[in-house]
Amino acid sequence: MVVRDRGGQLRAFLNTCRHRGARIVSGKEKCLKAFVCPFHGWVYGLDGTLKGVTKDYDFPGLDRSQYNLQALPVAERGGLVWIHPTPGAQMDLDAYLGSIGDDLEQFGLDALVRHRKTQVVKNANWKLLIKTYLEGYHVPHLHRDTLSQAFRGGVIAHHEHGPHIRLSAARTNFLDLLKADSADWKILDYASVYYALFPHTFFIMHPDYVSINMFYPQAPDRTIWTHEMLYRPSAFEGEAGERALAKRFTYTNDTVFDQEDFAVAEDVQLGLLNGANEFHTLGLAEGLLAIFQRNIDEAMAAVPASAGTGAVTWMRPIMPA
Ligand code: FES
Ligand SMILES: [Fe+2]
Repeated sequence: MVVRDRGGQLRAFLNTCRHRGARIVSGKEKCLKAFVCPFHGWVYGLDGTLKGVTKDYDFPGLDRSQYNLQALPVAERGGLVWIHPTPGAQMDLDAYLGSIGDDLEQFGLDALVRHRKTQVVKNANWKLLIKTYLEGYHVPHLHRDTLSQAFRGGVIAHHEHGPHIRLSAARTNFLDLLKADSADWKILDYASVYYALFPHTFFIMHPDYVSINMFYPQAPDRTIWTHEMLYRPSAFEGEAGERALAKRFTYTNDTVFDQEDFAVAEDVQLGLLNGANEFHTLGLAEGLLAIFQRNIDEAMAAVPASAGTGAVTWMRPIMPA
């Protein structure tokens, strides 16, 4: 959970009570004075310190200082809040984002506001879902009646920064660039720009709105997909603006992603099980899939063998003195 206090200080915590692990906030809260656990009512300040223990005489000798919420590293950059999911980890955003971070700042995301965020489970490996974004080869076929109306034959240029990938897909008007003065060129007028932020985030940039997709692996064949759309308020004013935004979201989220890209990814997942293919074959226009896979392999090779055992001491009873 992420909270900004009255002084503007931003903090992030694991959304887990330190008593017996209940989820503290549901995500519907807007303004809180403190975090109150719904299970037994322990109270934490917005800075994460344990402030109150219900019937504290039942916990003789409890060292409260050991029961503050687990804080996560948090930072703000380019209009976004960045959180490291591991308590105590070091977060060096400049090193992580590199030149891609400068790009993101140029898009002025800090001037955008949230339209909507959805979260659903897809029955496919997280990599299969992301890989649908990494090639334009499928666009004239799978997106025959949708995206291919706007894009020029699925032509994509890419740039790598470390494990991150920037992609630019030429729009149908791309050659109009030749008629325009290069001083007036704005890339989003002629191309859609995407960022695959390693490992599991995909940004889609449009002049007046941005889609942020994230993929959280739950199992080898199951992934939580979140999609958040941010928009520029001045571009979508009043009721007509709201209707236009809702239409944009449905088109992108339901039609293109869910019913086209991810439906195919779920089919591919099923196809992995029936033994038809020992391997998949990549053409020259699908090279980014190999690059993405190489980046994953390199990241996995760098993980120490001891990581992920996740030993938890489940119960620590309070023993009366
Ligand atoms: S689990 Fe939160 S108060 Fe008990
Ligand atoms: Fe697609």
